[in-house]
Amino acid sequence: MNTALTYDDIQLVPKFSNISSRKTINLSSLITRRFGVMMPLVASPMDTVCDYEMAIRMADMGGVGIIHRFMSIEEQSRQVNLVFKHVYCPEKAIFEDWGLPYDDWHSEVKAMPISAAVGAGGDYLERSEKLIQAGANIILIDVAHGHHENVKQAIKAIKWLSPNVDVIAGNIATYEAANDLIEWGADALRVGIGGGSLCTTRIKTGFGVPNVTCLEKICSISTVPVMADGGIRTSGDIAKALALGSSTVMLGSLLAGTEEAPGKIVETANGLYKRYRGAASLETKVTHGQETRNVEGESTMIPFKGGVKYIIDGLLDGVKSAFSYGGARNLKEFRPEWIRITSAGQNEAKPHLIK
Ligand code: XMP
Repeated sequence: MNTALTYDDIQLVPKFSNISSRKTINLSSLITRRFGVMMPLVASPMDTVCDYEMAIRMADMGGVGIIHRFMSIEEQSRQVNLVFKHVYCPEKAIFEDWGLPYDDWHSEVKAMPISAAVGAGGDYLERSEKLIQAGANIILIDVAHGHHENVKQAIKAIKWLSPNVDVIAGNIATYEAANDLIEWGADALRVGIGGGSLCTTRIKTGFGVPNVTCLEKICSISTVPVMADGGIRTSGDIAKALALGSSTVMLGSLLAGTEEAPGKIVETANGLYKRYRGAASLETKVTHGQETRNVEGESTMIPFKGGVKYIIDGLLDGVKSAFSYGGARNLKEFRPEWIRITSAGQNEAKPHLIK
């Protein structure tokens, strides 16, 4: 029987470092085969995490927000266009300010990513076409089980719409799926099944692979960038996902509850809150008039966190610190050894004086 591990089961092993200042650390990466980012964090296409406001803010910080698909084609296209205009029409292009990300893997990095999600059925093709017309250059096929015939068809159809568009496909958890999706034309893989903070997939279906094991297997064979998705709670988790070979890390709960996340601030006796709900939760299905079956997610209130920049800055500080412990100036150099730890090691890893 095989054993599978997740983030709390492992720890990264420090390496010799000559990093004199964390300011010299370069966090640029690739989100897809042809599109770069200046920092490896991506906002999840959930209706309580990322619409145009989050996408614009993420772009300003050098990352990406993927605009969710739980809205009309017209509205999603309008939102993509707002991001497009923001990114490409400031007085001085943000992209020029940053310069290109380091890259010897792919030489074609040429434009700021503008991304939106579609499904793999229904109106997805018309939606993709309108999103591309509105300025999207990356389409994410947002499907719970990405190793699927529908996704094969969708990748091919979307790529046929425009040769300039990259496709992120997923979610997957095995190297067989990775091989197939790459063969079908995926330009990046979204990896992780059932590990998200509100997921009930593993409980309802018994399927899913703990995140460290699925990332380890997929990153070891992938020829396109891998996006680690689900279950990221801390900058330490981000560092582990990157150390395993992910190029980017997708965030849901960490960005939910911020000012830029869609949804109203709710005032309660205990303070300010915002809602965070799974894409397959009953609440999401009811809100968007979908059939209320096959529920595979929860919904909850989370404390209001203020501006997302504060959250991202804190996470990136932690990741840069991790690079320093790993003796790495950039993502390519960040390949520390990792070890499996015991429950005693897990306890030692947390502040344990104060109970
Ligand atoms: P975190 O842990 O960052 O996870 O909050 C975000 C990721 O969770 C996935 N997701 C779901 N998975 N049922 C699921 O099984 C759901 O309702 C659901 N909603 C989101 C998704 O991959 C997201 O990026």
